[in-house]
Amino acid sequence: MNKEGKMSRESIEFEKIKKIIAELELHNYHYYIKNESLISDVEYDKLVKKLEDFEKNFPEFKEKMSITDKVGNDIKDTKFKKIEHKKPMLSLDNSYDTEDIKKFIERIEKAVDKDVYSLSYDLELKLDGLSISIVYEDGKLIQGVTRGDGNVGEDVTENIYMIKSIPKYLKQRISLEVRGEIVLPLSRFNKINEERLKNGEEIFANPRNAAAGTLRQLDAKIVEERELDAYFYFLIDPNKYEFNGKPIKTHGESLNYIKLLGIKTTGVCENLKNVSELEERIEYWNKKKESLDYETDGLVIKVDEIAVWEEMGERSKSPRWAIAYKFPAKQITTKLLGITWQVGRTGKVTPVAELEEVNLSGSNVKRASLHNYEEILRKDIKIGDTVFVEKAAEIIPQIIKSVKEVRTGLEIEIIPPEFCPSCKSKLIKEEGNVDFKCLNPVCPEKIKGGIEYFVSRNGMNILGFGEKIVEKFIEKGFLNDISDIYNLYLHKKELELIDKMGKKSIENILENIEKSKKNDYEKSLYSLGIPYIGKVVAKILAENSKNIDNLMLMEVETLLEIEGIGEKGANAVFEFFRDDKNIEIIRKLKEHGVNFQGEEKKEDKTNHSLEFIGNTFLFTGKLNVLTRTKAEELVEKLGGINARGVNKKLNYLVVGEDAGSKLEKAKKIETIKILTEKEFLIMSDKN
Ligand code: IVH
Repeated sequence: MNKEGKMSRESIEFEKIKKIIAELELHNYHYYIKNESLISDVEYDKLVKKLEDFEKNFPEFKEKMSITDKVGNDIKDTKFKKIEHKKPMLSLDNSYDTEDIKKFIERIEKAVDKDVYSLSYDLELKLDGLSISIVYEDGKLIQGVTRGDGNVGEDVTENIYMIKSIPKYLKQRISLEVRGEIVLPLSRFNKINEERLKNGEEIFANPRNAAAGTLRQLDAKIVEERELDAYFYFLIDPNKYEFNGKPIKTHGESLNYIKLLGIKTTGVCENLKNVSELEERIEYWNKKKESLDYETDGLVIKVDEIAVWEEMGERSKSPRWAIAYKFPAKQITTKLLGITWQVGRTGKVTPVAELEEVNLSGSNVKRASLHNYEEILRKDIKIGDTVFVEKAAEIIPQIIKSVKEVRTGLEIEIIPPEFCPSCKSKLIKEEGNVDFKCLNPVCPEKIKGGIEYFVSRNGMNILGFGEKIVEKFIEKGFLNDISDIYNLYLHKKELELIDKMGKKSIENILENIEKSKKNDYEKSLYSLGIPYIGKVVAKILAENSKNIDNLMLMEVETLLEIEGIGEKGANAVFEFFRDDKNIEIIRKLKEHGVNFQGEEKKEDKTNHSLEFIGNTFLFTGKLNVLTRTKAEELVEKLGGINARGVNKKLNYLVVGEDAGSKLEKAKKIETIKILTEKEFLIMSDKN
């Protein structure tokens, strides 16, 4: 081929590769920033492989900061302090069959002098969570940093303190850095998602996403509630330490050593002398993993002898002395029989895939989520297609892709809905939004969704008000919005006649409706069904607004100052109260006597002190004398107010040991007075 010919082939290849780079950037953004995956790991790895192959063939086209050189990045948009890793946090090369592992071992055996080193390999579980690096100084836990881009991570020390399985003190006063994985146990994951479903909150797609979302919470209390767990698998500079009176020489010893110090490991580190046992062990763990309470997506094979690590060295993003083996994904193919368009309480119309029933990792699946029409287009999915279905975790299966190779030509294109499947009104697609929306305020499905949410256990908790009853009441025209629930008593006689519901059951429902008026403000607020405002956020908003009239007046900026309120939530609250229909519903609810007023604490003012009254206090770091709860109680007792975050309204920041980002932030605001715990105690003692 002549030079010109070669150039044009390169350019054509380069055009193709540019698309792959853009695709990878998009997936990285979703995975690392939004904690969601648009494609399976296998598909992602395939794209990376394509890019790597291209870069190998045409090195002159390789970008300076190629994705292939970078470890995934989760630190754009960061709210946490950035910390540079003393040693880069590397990733691992992936393999999907034993052949790749054999090649990996061959490479090592070839490179290493076997007279000097006795080669053996450790097989460990590959935990599917988030990597973390933690530092102990003199036996005390002082820092926890996420991987970030491999060189710079996020300081999540405060959140790490909330993970019970990470010891605050080692059994010896040793300084070290260990790396491991933060996971959310499956049992916790399922519980949390059950709760979120009930609360009408978006569920976590899988335990990894849930762990990632949790670890990046600004509110350490939420981290504590979620009960994350952690396992460690890598000690930095192991040969600096002694185990059983001798310097550590192998990876196996390093894990035993950290275990001895009180650091949690999975306990799985099988020493293999050669590859012959490998296949049997892979098969064993592929089955056994199902009985573990954390997700493993594969195994890691590491050279046991640490001196070999130095000998083999590292590539830009992964060591040459370790490789990951990925278990086959929990995927299966089935037929897409049709699409049902569903209307939610917010009017969002989403496609649900109706599938030929299949058994997928133990459960029967006949519906799968497709999120939105753009996803259908992107994945090129048609009715009648054979599709790959993957179960991300225990909950909702996802359609990964269609198998175009087996198309018969009879497949039917999926047409986006023009009209609401419930009320038939014309659907709207807003600029920049992928969702089709039904804007009809009296759309029965929307009303039904809104009412079900309103009466749910986490909402107004109106017992006896099941799905069928809601449907019936809407059908009869008794319910046009949530406020009509409180008018139902006017139709008592007619209600009793519906499907012979009877006097008693209607009386019960009406009684429960009446009782619900006395619910706390946070419950009434949650029940309104403001997008993104689940149980936890509703509580925070209620605490920070005292009553709904204050909340209605809050600007987006004010809402954002509240710790625990993100951009989406703040905008949603602001928008919600700018809609006249919502204001009218709230007016009617108030008229019926629904409580939108936070409880004024009937406090004992005898202990109030001038220095505390009306002043806001916030605690950060580890207190020595008081517990956080006791300290906050003391503030209230003395007439002060407990703040939730550092902002201009904060008067005092009380700083315990190892205070982190809050202290840094407070130092920048001149009006905030910074107190040590001792100073705070003296200040409160004077009274
Ligand atoms: S060793 C330099 N061991 O998998 C050594 N990693 O895909 C790097 N992972 O970044 C890591 N289980 O977050 C190692 N037993 C294990 C692991 C493990 C899970 C994660 C880790 C790593 C990623 C690479």
